[in-house]
Amino acid sequence: IRRVAVLTSGGDAPGMNAAVRAVVRTGAQQGVEVVGVRRGFSGLHRGELTLLGPRDVANIIQRGGTILLTARSHSWRSPEGRARGAQVLRDWNVDGLIVIGGDGSFHGAHLLQEEHGIPVIGVPGTIDNDLYGTDHTIGYFTAVETALDAVDKLRDTGASHERIFVIEVMGRHAGHIALDVAVAGGAEEVFIPEDHKPVDSAVQVVQESVRKGKKGSIVIVAEGYAGGAQGVADAITAGTGLETRVSILGHIQRGGSPVSSDRILASRLGEAAVYALMDGQRGVMVGRTAGGITYTPLHETWENRKDVSRDLYRCARTLSV
Ligand code: F6P
Repeated sequence: IRRVAVLTSGGDAPGMNAAVRAVVRTGAQQGVEVVGVRRGFSGLHRGELTLLGPRDVANIIQRGGTILLTARSHSWRSPEGRARGAQVLRDWNVDGLIVIGGDGSFHGAHLLQEEHGIPVIGVPGTIDNDLYGTDHTIGYFTAVETALDAVDKLRDTGASHERIFVIEVMGRHAGHIALDVAVAGGAEEVFIPEDHKPVDSAVQVVQESVRKGKKGSIVIVAEGYAGGAQGVADAITAGTGLETRVSILGHIQRGGSPVSSDRILASRLGEAAVYALMDGQRGVMVGRTAGGITYTPLHETWENRKDVSRDLYRCARTLSV
């Protein structure tokens, strides 16, 4: 392996820059040239590539977003788009591609390897933490902190007005962020897509908490929960007559300086991705579990569902007493 390319793709996540830095610096240390691709797969087939040296990634470890820019590519969905991208990589004499992103990006990477034989390695970068094969994804820890900070602030105003706050957090089809935020934020109730309970199941919980003299209540709803935050709030108002407010935290959860856990995870996985290519690994995601660095075939990362922690779910219910 003499030259590798790196790109960030899909939704940005805090810590992606730390991962890019780790790839570039591991390459420099191992005598492997690193080419940065701008704007993900869209930029790849347009030839937006540039050589990166260790100084090009100075002063980015603490920055949110991605200096390489990112995109959700439509052209990549066509075989012609992927063929163009593969040709660009061949023109640049690239021996392997490192893709930092989520399951959609890994699909694209997988197809590139299947159709054109270009070795690819995935690095899990998404706030959703929804990839099988790693305990955590880069950006997840920071997103939880950001959402938690918002929940704490909403609790202040909620308690002052004795209102019920129904707060929607991101996570796409997964409830990992919601569950962590519910436990850490002391929420009365949490709705996640992994559990199909009805919207009005918060009514009794809220009635109970009022009876016990609680000043306000916090209900966390994952964006992937079918009933929706507004549906939950409407059900609470209808069932209790109490005033509710819905707060959708949205893209704020994707921004900000990465917390230390994301920087460290990104640094380890960026380093591991370069070593994986050097060791002849192909078509796998580098991840980190309690046992250390792991390699999971890309297709397994989206075919196998990573469940939420059932213990934590029970804990959230127990502690809302
Ligand atoms: O995958 C990250 C994520 O922020 C999800 O939590 C959310 O569903 C989605 O991306 C939002 O995508 P977009 O930035 O394209 O609106």
